Amino acid sequence: NSISNTGIIGKKVVYLPSCHSTNDIAAELVHQKAFEEGTVVITDNQTGGRGQRGTNWSSVTGMNLTFSILLKPKGVPIMEQFLLSQTVAIGLVTGLKELGLVATIKWPNDIYIGDRKICGTLIENSIQGGGIASTIAGIGLNVNQLDFGAIRATSLALLSGKKWSLQQVFEVLLIAIDKALLRLYAGEVDAIRSLYRDKLLGMNEIRGFKVQGQLMQATVVGVTAQGRLLLRTLQGSVLEMDLKELQWLWE
Ligand code: BTN
Repeated sequence: NSISNTGIIGKKVVYLPSCHSTNDIAAELVHQKAFEEGTVVITDNQTGGRGQRGTNWSSVTGMNLTFSILLKPKGVPIMEQFLLSQTVAIGLVTGLKELGLVATIKWPNDIYIGDRKICGTLIENSIQGGGIASTIAGIGLNVNQLDFGAIRATSLALLSGKKWSLQQVFEVLLIAIDKALLRLYAGEVDAIRSLYRDKLLGMNEIRGFKVQGQLMQATVVGVTAQGRLLLRTLQGSVLEMDLKELQWLWE
């Protein structure tokens, strides 16, 4: 019910054998004002998992990790809330590294191994009185699932050829995210931004994109402080992108 070796995350772990969405359960805890920072909600069977842009996140029961971390990031200004996405993404990449995998971040906060997605995150901030009152960081990591049908995804088991202990992977990830969070709270904002940028997928590469219906080739060059993606086109102009304006053509 709890993990040690962390500063903030996982002092309390709420395990539910089955639930609709761990982000929704976490939101109820926020609503009831009944949570300590760092509480984690985890389930084996998420029946209505939510993804970014209103998509679904489906996960085979008992095979993967689906959990949400509750935070109260008081010192983070609303204008810089993208730092929370960056922090979680860095934690995930570091945790996966410890498990032997070299991962990259597909903007804004998907985690990829090569050209396949292994982990998705859904960050939901609630803003109150000019500050971020709470952050729910929902994480879905493919661990032991071997078949993804037509979806371009991968898992720890597919990449390593062995079955993993969910508990062990969970702890490694929480410890790594906790470390990244402590750096954020210590004010190491520049380090967070540069670690994130270093891991961005599509840097120093030319990739095909569709931007507002128009096909183009471009290179990822970074993100703004607000979390918009910066793309440099082959003609040399730099475009600032919103999530809904952009489509990656090789997905
Ligand atoms: C995405 O890739 O679009 C984000 C997927 C996020 C899935 C996780 S699983 C745990 C948490 N609960 C949810 O309903 N969604 C997130």
